[in-house]
Amino acid sequence: MNTIAVFGGTGKQGGSVIDALLSRGAHVRALVRSPESDRARALAGRGVELARVEIDDATSLSAALRGAEAFFLMTTPAGHTLADAEGETRQGVALVDAAVAAAVPHVVFSSVGGAERDSGVPHFESKRRVEEHLERSGPRATIVRPVAFMENFAFLAPTVEDGVLVLRMPLPDHIPLQLIAVRDIGRISAAFLLDAAKAPDGAVEIAGDERTGSQMAAAFGAHAGLPARYEALPLEVLGDNADGRAMFRWFAETPAYRADLAAVRAIEPAVQDLPAWIRTSGWTLDARVG
Ligand SMILES: NC(=O)c1ccc[n+]([C@@H]2O[C@H](COP(=O)([O-])OP(=O)(O)OC[C@H]3O[C@@H](n4cnc5c(N)ncnc54)[C@H](OP(=O)(O)O)[C@@H]3O)[C@@H](O)[C@H]2O)c1
Repeated sequence: MNTIAVFGGTGKQGGSVIDALLSRGAHVRALVRSPESDRARALAGRGVELARVEIDDATSLSAALRGAEAFFLMTTPAGHTLADAEGETRQGVALVDAAVAAAVPHVVFSSVGGAERDSGVPHFESKRRVEEHLERSGPRATIVRPVAFMENFAFLAPTVEDGVLVLRMPLPDHIPLQLIAVRDIGRISAAFLLDAAKAPDGAVEIAGDERTGSQMAAAFGAHAGLPARYEALPLEVLGDNADGRAMFRWFAETPAYRADLAAVRAIEPAVQDLPAWIRTSGWTLDARVG
């Protein structure tokens, strides 16, 4: 059976890719830094092969990719500072170089919506540099560009005040924001990993919904059986998080994310909108999903 390699499998995106691959009967090899961690062991318990890697050790990366039919990679800045953005690019470049060294036939990179549109957002620009390196490096490449994760509502969580559900974000209310369930990043990426012929040779921005703040609040309120309202916060609530401020400023420029929702639905017909995610993710006002 062909092996699909996944980086980030103990995290949200990579974990969702592994869920989708396993549900389709694939053999998965997860590249992990700590095979003894609880999350890695849980993957092994589900039949996932573990390969220990050190991101700064090119030999460990290429050895872990040997024989793989396809490779999913994502990158992440550790703490959203400019130095972390540079580290994110280094991480992605190291993973792409390892895929080339191991002659992996197809690479799927999860970047971010708008990475190619000069957003000026540090952790978008860092992903763009990985995209460019991948495009220059030669393997067949598919770039998936997800928009804002619905899972962010774990920390952008609505509250209940005087019987009203209140959602607050540093985003003007008349601006729609595109959203995607992490589950669907996994399903779409897995479809491409398992059938390179169906994967675009290039990039696809992916979203499952598009809503203003009031429309998001209404979806949560409808599920909770409460009236709902949205309050736009000033960018200053983001304090000294320059990366976050740049991102929310970019969100307020219309349109920021530009996925073609109908085209995404053609790739994954079951892609979730926000009400479907709220219903199926286990979200409640008291026990928010992490
Ligand atoms: N939130 C959003 O709305 C949104 C939208 C679009 C794009 N994004 C992007 O999504 C990315 C985060 O994805 P995520 O939520 O899936 O991340 P996550 O849940 O934090 O997972 C990160 C994964 O990367 C692994 N990892 C990190 N550094 C590693 C290293 N040096 N060696 C080996 N493994 C390493 C982690 O392994 P361990 O388990 O060992 O730590 C974990 O598996 C960010 O770049 C963000 O900008 C986010």
